[in-house]
Amino acid sequence: MTGYETLLVERQESLALVTVNRPDKLNALNRQVVSELTRLFDALSAEDGAPRVAILTGAGEKAFVAGADIAEMSTMSPAEAKAFSDAGHALGARIETAPFPVIAAVNGFALGGGCELALACDFIVASERAKFGQPEVNLGLMPGFGGTQRLARRVGLGLARELVYSGDHIGADRAAAIGLVNEVVAPERLLERARELATKIASKAPLAIAASKRVMLRGFDADLATANELEATAFATLFGSADQREGTSAFLEKRKPKFQGR
Ligand code: COA
Repeated sequence: MTGYETLLVERQESLALVTVNRPDKLNALNRQVVSELTRLFDALSAEDGAPRVAILTGAGEKAFVAGADIAEMSTMSPAEAKAFSDAGHALGARIETAPFPVIAAVNGFALGGGCELALACDFIVASERAKFGQPEVNLGLMPGFGGTQRLARRVGLGLARELVYSGDHIGADRAAAIGLVNEVVAPERLLERARELATKIASKAPLAIAASKRVMLRGFDADLATANELEATAFATLFGSADQREGTSAFLEKRKPKFQGR
């Protein structure tokens, strides 16, 4: 895919590898990166041959994304800051509502907007070198791309408050211990492990994965009865799919299913 100055995009069969590519600025999110990521996930989601899984990572050895671009933010008016925050939220929502899972492969610093970007992904695998944090209070700021909300939903309100109020960085092991990260691997294994997970997920029925993603996201903030109703409706919809017939038949015929996303 072309037309992106700040991103590298590789398609490998049913997988997409998206790399934020501003390593000299530790992949900081300026307006252009936010806009290009949103445009890219729009395009991937609308594609006929949409990927079954995407992996999001950062270029270079040091950073996933070291935050929103502080130089760009330093001169923003309140109205411009609101537009920037709105754009960050739109990006998070775009990733969360993509019809395929997005795995964050966090290779280094995931600070501020970088931690928030990783949190908008379905789950996070991290290198032993990764560092997470919401250091905005050191700049007279607060999280603006969903950190006050998604971090609490992932790790609980008390730990999220501590991270947001202290601005502390935490290492990958602590991030895994509090449930922010699913798995920690050696730096040289990070992309390989993310690809293994992505390949496994890509081998499952795509409509079932997309429906699970949608219901888990929407249901999380709904009351249990409403969430279970969402689940029942989505569950029923899958019974109109070719893949449901293929998956159940393959089990009964003791063979591997061939899913087509229909
Ligand atoms: N926005 C803009 N530029 C950033 C950036 C950010 N969030 N984070 C790093 N950079 C730039 C630095 O300004 C520097 O640019 P320069 O070489 O032109 O001076 C370059 O990236 C390398 O960063 P540097 O600070 O020299 O690396 P380091 O290894 O000494 O420190 C960090 C790494 C991540 C600890 C440090 O860069 C940092 O604290 N960054 C800001 C983190 C933050 O507050 N994020 C939340 C923003 S709301």
